Amino acid sequence: MAKQVTVENLSVLFGSDKAKEQALKMIDEGYSVGDIREETGVTVANMNVNFDIQPDELFVIVGLSGSGKSTFIRTLNLLNKPTRGDIKINGESLLGLSKEALRSYRRKDVSMVFQHFGLLSHRSVLENVEYPLEIQKVNKKERIEKSRAALEQVGLKDWENSMPSELSGGMRQRVGLARALVNDPELLLMDEPYSALDPLIRREMQNELLNLDDSSERTIVFITHDMNEAFRIGDRIALMRDAEVVQIGTPLDFFKNPANDYVKDFIADVDKSRILKARNIMRKPLNVVTLDMTAKQARTKMEDTQSEYAFVVNEDKEYLGFIVAQDLEKSEARSLKKFLKEDHHVLRRNTYLSDALKALQSSTYDVAVLDKKQHLRGVISNDEIIAALAE
Ligand SMILES: Nc1ncnc2c1ncn2[C@@H]1O[C@H](COP(=O)(O)OP(=O)(O)OP(=O)(O)O)[C@@H](O)[C@H]1O
Ligand SMILES: [Mg+2]
Repeated sequence: MAKQVTVENLSVLFGSDKAKEQALKMIDEGYSVGDIREETGVTVANMNVNFDIQPDELFVIVGLSGSGKSTFIRTLNLLNKPTRGDIKINGESLLGLSKEALRSYRRKDVSMVFQHFGLLSHRSVLENVEYPLEIQKVNKKERIEKSRAALEQVGLKDWENSMPSELSGGMRQRVGLARALVNDPELLLMDEPYSALDPLIRREMQNELLNLDDSSERTIVFITHDMNEAFRIGDRIALMRDAEVVQIGTPLDFFKNPANDYVKDFIADVDKSRILKARNIMRKPLNVVTLDMTAKQARTKMEDTQSEYAFVVNEDKEYLGFIVAQDLEKSEARSLKKFLKEDHHVLRRNTYLSDALKALQSSTYDVAVLDKKQHLRGVISNDEIIAALAE
């Protein structure tokens, strides 16, 4: 299961203990980060940060250099300690973990990808990816199997015997990602992983990340200073400025209701039609039935949700098609199989809205939005797409 992260009133300060105490008081009195530094010499890197990251979410933190992004992500695996406040993973306080539990959390549950790859130059690609498993004392055979699978996931299957120096920047970053994926972490932390790459490779890597995320049960926290990148990949985004979160929301929230002029400026250069995807505006459908329901149960569900039709999934939540209330009228059928209609549009959740619009044309029903595994993730209507692009 992917992890839920709860950040509660988190402040991270750098300085001597005594000075930090004074700085915390100044925070409570409403002084700015600049004033606090001048008065106490303390750097306030994160100030009163509060938010939740949902399981499975691709959560992006964006902000200018020095705004506190790396400090935050490093606090998520306790490379930094909160000066005040707490972080909870699936409801459990990180600060309360025993040494042993913390070690296990770092080794098994969470992985981190860095901007500057951090590969070991004297080790081959495969040996680099094996490294985290080596530390966990996993046996050689299993290490190699898992590392090969991770390399395949990032498209580097044929490079396992190469040395890092023989690879391009994009390929090195892929090795870094494979190394982070090798223990199949439920929480993946990525600190500006693509900032050192040129724009074309960067875009390719963003698409690959979306694709990878589409087929996994994993929470991802991704840091960038590029708003276009943030909006291209983020389900939700937190914009940081001077240690604080200025705004948090979906890309559409930012376009619709920018919190202030700073946010407006920040998103001024973003091209909405090249950013917004089906996943950004889809809704959770209420009118969902499973194929093994009786016609009567399905009718009740549609009545309860005031729908004339319903989406049909199997027990694994895979989307199968839809049924129409009219067809089921008075039927006593034990299964929905014979009513199933399969001949209508579906959308992949990473489809750009501009492309979705072309595909849907004038469909009047809600359309199912699916991930790579054909799971029903949400629904969307033609009108909603038009409205989102027009705003
Ligand atoms: N270990 C540390 N000791 C002292 N100050 C630190 C430490 N780590 C970070 N800082 C300070 O905290 C502030 C926030 O730094 P942080 O690295 O979190 O910013 P960032 O948003 O990641 O910036 P960038 O985009 O440049 O990576 C900076 O003023 C930085 O100098
Ligand atoms: Mg940083």
